[in-house]
Amino acid sequence: MSGSYRIGVLPGDGTGPEVVREGLKVLEAVRAAEGFHVELAPFDLGGDRYLRTGEVLPDEDLERLRSMDAIYLGAVGHPDVRPGILERELLLRLRFELDQYVNLRPVVRYPGVETLVPSHNDDDVDMVVVRENSEGLYSGAGGFHRRGTPHEVAVQESVNTRHGVERIVRYAFELAMKPGRRRKLTLVHKTNVLTFAGDLYQRVVDEVSAEFPDVETDYVHVDAACIYFLDMPSRFDVIVTDNMFGDIITDLGAMIQGGMGIAAGGNISPNGVSMFEPIGGTAPDHVGRSTINPLAAIAALEMLLDTIGETAAARRVDSGIRLACSKMASMRAGEMGYSTSEVGDLVVEGAIA
Ligand code: IPM
Ligand code: MN
Repeated sequence: MSGSYRIGVLPGDGTGPEVVREGLKVLEAVRAAEGFHVELAPFDLGGDRYLRTGEVLPDEDLERLRSMDAIYLGAVGHPDVRPGILERELLLRLRFELDQYVNLRPVVRYPGVETLVPSHNDDDVDMVVVRENSEGLYSGAGGFHRRGTPHEVAVQESVNTRHGVERIVRYAFELAMKPGRRRKLTLVHKTNVLTFAGDLYQRVVDEVSAEFPDVETDYVHVDAACIYFLDMPSRFDVIVTDNMFGDIITDLGAMIQGGMGIAAGGNISPNGVSMFEPIGGTAPDHVGRSTINPLAAIAALEMLLDTIGETAAARRVDSGIRLACSKMASMRAGEMGYSTSEVGDLVVEGAIA
């Protein structure tokens, strides 16, 4: 029996629509090849709608998103909208409302992709960051006191709950046991300074590790982790970390895999609706020029397909990405050599071969 899925599509702002278009082209190709059904539900959310109507995420849209099997997101952020509005009230609100408590960010090297660290090869970069996605510094707790005065106080609190830490740590251990992983879990934190939050994370890792005797555990401070990303990435298999540290180290992770053009992530709600997106932003410099690399959005589609259970289709997308990467490798460093839609076409070619 072939599946049937409703996928919410949020192209968003900037280059979001351009990369999502390529992702949907690839989706249609692998859908036809594997014979499952997809109903796409477009959502007009992002900077343009906000500027037009003042709405960021109306309740009707949120409720309709809840009924989807998965969500495919381009990018949000608009040069004419004050920073924080779309980020907090659209992207973060979706993550929180849909309880997408895992931000899953694989860091893999595709063959031929040039990176800033030439000593890395295709084998030594193969990790996945499990970023806590529902609390920490992102909770919004805090506030101002005497704002705008010389005695102003700004407090931004990191909220870490036993429940929140335990569920993310457990997810990371389970992932470390999956086929293809190397059964190693590294906690990345700053336990020497963040002695409350870090202590909770470390205790939970120690406790849960008793249930996973086959998984080796390790601990690295977040600053040292930045060094190891560059110097010895093979040290990492599965990383578990809090929301803020996870945000920062996954940008570094993107760079060691070849840049924002190739880095994908999933906001996973293990019992609910998950949302997949390229890690990069709206890339205003690239808008309308067909110069944006759609591979990150296409890799996000691969994660989406894996998550809904269409694993054969996901493997096809992976083959397509690898074909596109190897063709693009013959281009000059720093240039795609192909337009956005030509890259999409290469992926389709590799996916249906
Ligand atoms: C990311 C982004 C977001 C985050 C921003 C846009 C709110 O940087 O997905 O990594 O900080 O999580
Ligand atoms: Mn980020």
